[in-house]
Amino acid sequence: MTDRLTITRPDDWHVHLRDGVMLKDVVNYTARQFGRAIVMPNLTPPVTTITAGRDYRARIIAALDPAFDFTPLITCYLTDDIAPDEVIGGHSEGVFTACKLYPANATTNSAHGVTNIKNIYPVLEAMQKAGMPLLVHGEVTDSQIDIFDREAVFIETIMTPLLRDMPELKVVFEHITTSEAVDFVREADANIGATITPHHLEFNRNAIFQGGIRPHKYCLPIAKRETHRLALRKAATSGSSRFFLGTDTAPHTVAAKESACGCAGIFNAPHAIEAYAKVFDEENAMDRFEGFASLFGPQFYGLPINEATITLERKAQNVPDRLNLSGADIIPFHAGETLAWSIA
Ligand code: NCD
Ligand code: ZN
Repeated sequence: MTDRLTITRPDDWHVHLRDGVMLKDVVNYTARQFGRAIVMPNLTPPVTTITAGRDYRARIIAALDPAFDFTPLITCYLTDDIAPDEVIGGHSEGVFTACKLYPANATTNSAHGVTNIKNIYPVLEAMQKAGMPLLVHGEVTDSQIDIFDREAVFIETIMTPLLRDMPELKVVFEHITTSEAVDFVREADANIGATITPHHLEFNRNAIFQGGIRPHKYCLPIAKRETHRLALRKAATSGSSRFFLGTDTAPHTVAAKESACGCAGIFNAPHAIEAYAKVFDEENAMDRFEGFASLFGPQFYGLPINEATITLERKAQNVPDRLNLSGADIIPFHAGETLAWSIA
């Protein structure tokens, strides 16, 4: 049994750091554990210009505790009428690492998202040519489609035709939640990768309704059946370089979560690496943890791996019931529970 593990410092390939007071409150939870993070652009207003991307990066860096060596990687939010020059210019200037595709109204702050993928074909063609990754929130938004089927339908109706038209486009299928997505990514060409969150590895849809409605287990894409959770665990711990770490940490205040129309999102940043370690330990796959957490992401993005390391040890720690932040309270993932692993 492994009780101590030293790995290359991991990166988080999908985070929501928010802005303003919330940014200051949350960013250092991520920076404590990760060397880099792909930062989502779904602010209000969204990050759609090079200037906005540069300014947001500066605000993140200003909010960082100087004790942490952390680099935010900024993404550009795709809209129906975004110009290819803004996207490609931002990429070549080193402001935008990737672009994020939110189908319009798929999730939090996605009202400006893309209404029809064909509208952004010129941008996607330019990205394919430049080798700039497209990060996809892979859910259809048609209210006629059952919420639990939206990812599988997206694969059929959007993702597959897109890759037929642009076979060399680098695509990250973000926060996958279904066995259909696992199969799709495994069978696709090497330009397709996927991130997997700790929460989708840890609970299935029953958790959202356990004894009552559980707003802190609600996120998008919504957790699916147990069979899908098992497929995700198998993929994450398989050693396949297609699957890598992306927490989708998405903080909302308690008031915004515990409401008649509560926000989607789970704040897992405080103990993300420990939560993933729990999964790999349970699957007897600690020997594959470094690949998933620290190597396959940079490999996909074409970035060097981090030079620093972190050490995890089997040492119990209690997760607080709630975090009293300066802006407002937030309930973290695993609130009130004990985690078996800690950062040494
Ligand atoms: C995210 C958020 O709150 O910004 N919410 C979530 O449930 N994951 C948006 C997203 O990534 O879908
Ligand atoms: Zn997200």
